[in-house]
Amino acid sequence: MFTTETLYVPPPALAEGAHVAGRAAYDALVREAAADHQAYWARLAREFVEWKRPFKKVLDASNAPFFKWFEDGTLNASYNCLDRQVHAGLGAKVAILFEADGGEVTRVSYADLLARVCRMANMLRAQGIKKGDRIVIYMSMSIDGVVAMQACARIGATHCVVFGGFSAQSLRDRIADTGAVLVLTADQQVRGGKHLPLKAIVDEAIGLGGCEAVRRVVVAKRTGADIAMRHPRDLWMNDLLACQADTCSPEWVGAEHPLFLLYTSGSTGKPKGVQHSTGGYLLHAALTTKWTFDLRPEDMFWCTADIGWVTGHTYIAYGPLALGATQVVFEGVPTYPDASRFWTMIQDHRVSIFYTAPTAIRSLIKAAESNAETHPDRFDLRSLRILGSVGEPINPAAWEWYHRHVGGGRCPIVDTFWQTETGGHMITPLPGATSLVPGSCTLPFPGIDAAVVDETGADVPNGQGGILVIKKPWPSMIRTIWGDPERFRKSYYPDDFKGGYYLAGDGAIRDAETGYFTITGRIDDVLNVSGHRMGTMEIESALVACTELVAEAAVVGRPDDTTGEAICAFVVLKGSRPTGDEAKAIAKRLRDWVGKEIGPIAKPKDIRFGDNLPKTRSGKIMRRLLRSVAIGEAITQDTSTLDNPMVLDQLMHSN
Ligand code: WTA
Repeated sequence: MFTTETLYVPPPALAEGAHVAGRAAYDALVREAAADHQAYWARLAREFVEWKRPFKKVLDASNAPFFKWFEDGTLNASYNCLDRQVHAGLGAKVAILFEADGGEVTRVSYADLLARVCRMANMLRAQGIKKGDRIVIYMSMSIDGVVAMQACARIGATHCVVFGGFSAQSLRDRIADTGAVLVLTADQQVRGGKHLPLKAIVDEAIGLGGCEAVRRVVVAKRTGADIAMRHPRDLWMNDLLACQADTCSPEWVGAEHPLFLLYTSGSTGKPKGVQHSTGGYLLHAALTTKWTFDLRPEDMFWCTADIGWVTGHTYIAYGPLALGATQVVFEGVPTYPDASRFWTMIQDHRVSIFYTAPTAIRSLIKAAESNAETHPDRFDLRSLRILGSVGEPINPAAWEWYHRHVGGGRCPIVDTFWQTETGGHMITPLPGATSLVPGSCTLPFPGIDAAVVDETGADVPNGQGGILVIKKPWPSMIRTIWGDPERFRKSYYPDDFKGGYYLAGDGAIRDAETGYFTITGRIDDVLNVSGHRMGTMEIESALVACTELVAEAAVVGRPDDTTGEAICAFVVLKGSRPTGDEAKAIAKRLRDWVGKEIGPIAKPKDIRFGDNLPKTRSGKIMRRLLRSVAIGEAITQDTSTLDNPMVLDQLMHSN
């Protein structure tokens, strides 16, 4: 139970002047939403979004769980993010302060950004791109990356950003699944002083087959590296942009028009293309950016996520721009040139709102402990007002360090729980309203009906763990899985689960006294490694795809101090079980293989070899035993149903 001593109350100045000022204001919003859910969301949709044609219908639940919001309204997301700011007199305000890997800074005003987006949008139209076409964006953190997303939105094309760390195979799967007709990329990307390929990986991906719909690959120049260009398919972005006008009429789309697809891992099968809408998504992006971060016109906002993840979509490419904010966009990594990069940038750019992931904080704590020069205490971080955390649970020790050493003890930390599927924050403190408890994401965002239930869908009492659900639909929710509506229904609204609630896939517990939520982790076979979501099945499939070596593989997660969870793979080879140096060499080969199949983030930390895997007599792999082996804990579970108990010993001692 949380005692009042462990609560961090909102600083009084914040509590008075915040957008949601004080707990009573939060409670009033929750009551407003509870009294009339649709009227509440309709009010905010009118306030936060500029509609071309106002909506009359709010929610259409007639084909649940395929909910529709504001369906008869029309709008354009890019117009809302850019033209609206210019019309409001913010044309000269800096929209993006870009800091490159090497430290060069570029500032882009709202007027400039609008012009750049218009040129890119005109270029896409000139390439024959029409409303509804899918465009894959395989670029790193850059102004062009954000411009590309906004340009797609401007002409009603549906973008699908693929994280620049994904392999050719992963990229191919996404290009093929979306049926993309055009790929936007760059010659190379620069991270931590290294030049890494992008265009070459696009070539490789397309070469793998299944990408026949791709007519054009448009390449931005980042490093000027000598890369292969295939005519007439490949074109240089700069050549195409040079002749484009810097105004472009927006394509007005219905609120339900798919703004983007973003692939994420589930417990089974290939990654799924989460489809988001335009109207409902934009509303929640703008609303949560404003309330969760208490964003004000003079703020310098910095979200360190990559545009390849949902956080980079909602809290870089859309939310801050829809509010006319100034934000930092950073190309590089937190540890280059050394682990003080974040603190130096906060100091240099007077960042006031800083939003990052627990894994980054944990690695920077380690770095600061081993090299005092990189400790945040050495930097002037007084510009900070609000800190945020996202992507995985933040352990209380990391929370306390972040609060004390980065936030100087004065900045509230918003621990935001949400998912690719939810589009924006679901459970989070509001800095001027919610008292904080380290490790708890506290209370639902007003209008989000989150609850903890049992397998039958019945509410469990506070203090008792259960399954996290969202009871009512909300505007920025996933609309479907691209090309697979049945998988959407089965994954999030399974028939055998009572109540018709959205199933988040996480477990949670509410505090007995405060009702605060703590996320207890995934309840499915999804791992969270450094805030990156990965399915165990996906990694297993990648391993067994190495048909030359691997006969069978099982993957589980185990807790890790820095990355949250670490990937642990148990492998049966076609040849005999390797030991010693041979085992090390094969483990390295397999790690590199997985890196090529999925991307470096999916490389198992631990690979162990056995003559077999622990199985029941009916042949089912006993994963819970593997989890114990991975952690190195004594096996206390019943192993009497195990067909081959000796393999446990092998796996336990194989590294
Ligand atoms: C986990 C990232 C605890 C959770 C925005 C969820 C969290 C998954 C938090 C979604 C948090 C995200 N506290 N766990 N504040 N935020 N998660 O789709 O397991 O990459 O289901 O979205 O990350 O990951 P995704």
